Amino acid sequence: MKVAFAQSAAMSVDAALRSQAIAIAFSKNEKEDFELEGPAHLVSAIEEHFELNLLDELTFFSPTGKAGELFEIPVSDTDSLTEKIFLVGLGDKGLNSIRLAASAIGRKVRGKSTKVFCACVNEVTELKAFAISLSLGSYLWNQKTDKETLFPEFCIATENQSQLDDAVVIAKAICAARDLVHTPANIKNPAWLSEQALSMGKEFGFNVKVLAGKELALFGGLRAVGNSSPKPGPRFVELSYVPRSAKKAVGALTHVVLVGKGITFDTGGVSLKRPYDTMTAMKSDMAGAAALLATVSALAQLQPRVRVTALMMCAENALSGTSQRPSDVITHFGGTTVEVINTDAEGRLVLADGLAYADKNLDPDYLVDIATLTGAATLGLGRQFAAMYTRDQLLADSLGKIGTESGDKVWHMPLIDEYQDALRSDIADYNHTADKEKYSAGSVTAALFLEKFAGNRRWVHLDIAGTARSEVDAGENPKGGTGFGVRLLTDWIMSL
Ligand code: BES
Ligand code: ZN
Ligand code: ZN
Repeated sequence: MKVAFAQSAAMSVDAALRSQAIAIAFSKNEKEDFELEGPAHLVSAIEEHFELNLLDELTFFSPTGKAGELFEIPVSDTDSLTEKIFLVGLGDKGLNSIRLAASAIGRKVRGKSTKVFCACVNEVTELKAFAISLSLGSYLWNQKTDKETLFPEFCIATENQSQLDDAVVIAKAICAARDLVHTPANIKNPAWLSEQALSMGKEFGFNVKVLAGKELALFGGLRAVGNSSPKPGPRFVELSYVPRSAKKAVGALTHVVLVGKGITFDTGGVSLKRPYDTMTAMKSDMAGAAALLATVSALAQLQPRVRVTALMMCAENALSGTSQRPSDVITHFGGTTVEVINTDAEGRLVLADGLAYADKNLDPDYLVDIATLTGAATLGLGRQFAAMYTRDQLLADSLGKIGTESGDKVWHMPLIDEYQDALRSDIADYNHTADKEKYSAGSVTAALFLEKFAGNRRWVHLDIAGTARSEVDAGENPKGGTGFGVRLLTDWIMSL
């Protein structure tokens, strides 16, 4: 990854003058007049220093006022390093607009060694959103060898060091999840993913347990999918976070269990994906598991008083002589039998084992799964919102609100009981996909299937097929992995 994370800077012109660029934000009020935002004293001192009237400059540029619009004013001053001022539009000044503005600044200097001093926001919540999106906009991932990729430096004028430190923890975690998603599947097999977990566990101080081979005897779904690629075969990775201050009274803490789809590449298996070019994006089919690993590493630094166990269900869905067949019957963790209909619906098979393991062994207060599960979720909601399924309205409300505030937006979808019939099998406890043509709600029937394995827990399913990967390089997102879910889960767990 080539990305910069914000440092705090003093609210002083001297600090600003140590940067090549100074970013200042503006908005347009109801009367269509421009206003400068951010720390007012500092902004006017910067104007004074450069003998500039930024409102006059804005009148000259005549911006529309939309969030993320960016203008560059060259400045020169023999005593300072500053070469330009970025004027960036804050739109309606809501958190979404702040994220767009910050990512526009990040993009402007992406791949360059520019140091940017930002005097754009005042409030604590704005500071957090701004600092995270600054990094997300500057994020780059590639394996090019022809030239060295440079990366910028960001300073934010703020007196709120600890809030900025927390934002940087989250930004780093999102970028770590993006790196995992971008890594190609010839490198990123399930064993590699489990090694990443072990090394992040060591670095940030959480426990990691890995099961492989014979240890997976009871995990029929994980084995059925993952044995299509027997070298190295599937991995079950259990991450455990306990706050440092509560090692003795662990039982008293709220226990959150997260389950993530970690398919390192999804060919579809014997039910091969067609058209074939739909396969190239499928190295990102482990984005749910990546989001969990990144979230737990952020939590280990933020230390909320909650206990978190995250299960990464890692397997490759390959086409080989050991692939499962449509019509196979498998036995999941806990004993439920399932008739495999279409081997491309592999995600729910690995998740079912994880959910059943959590329900039977971990006694969760909350059980949340996150998965790039169905193309249907993208058809229904596009790429801005993830599909959220739960029967717990309170939980849906709180995740919905935190999603909107954090930038990882979710939409509450219905678990439609009229479609339960789709999961009826003649020979096993359940069918694993709807094989009857009258059901077209693919994301709903997948959620209904998962629910069978969640017991009576407070369960939420997040289908991130649309949001985990961006097809365009725009706003906060590069083309490729977005790191969706890290902000949502981290902020939600911090709020418990
Ligand atoms: N990994 C895919 C879902 C997916 C599709 C994620 C596009 C991201 C972008 C999943 O394993 C899958 O193939 N699902 C099938 C299910 C179907 C066979 C019932 C789908 O959505 O088509
Ligand atoms: Zn699939
Ligand atoms: Zn898949």
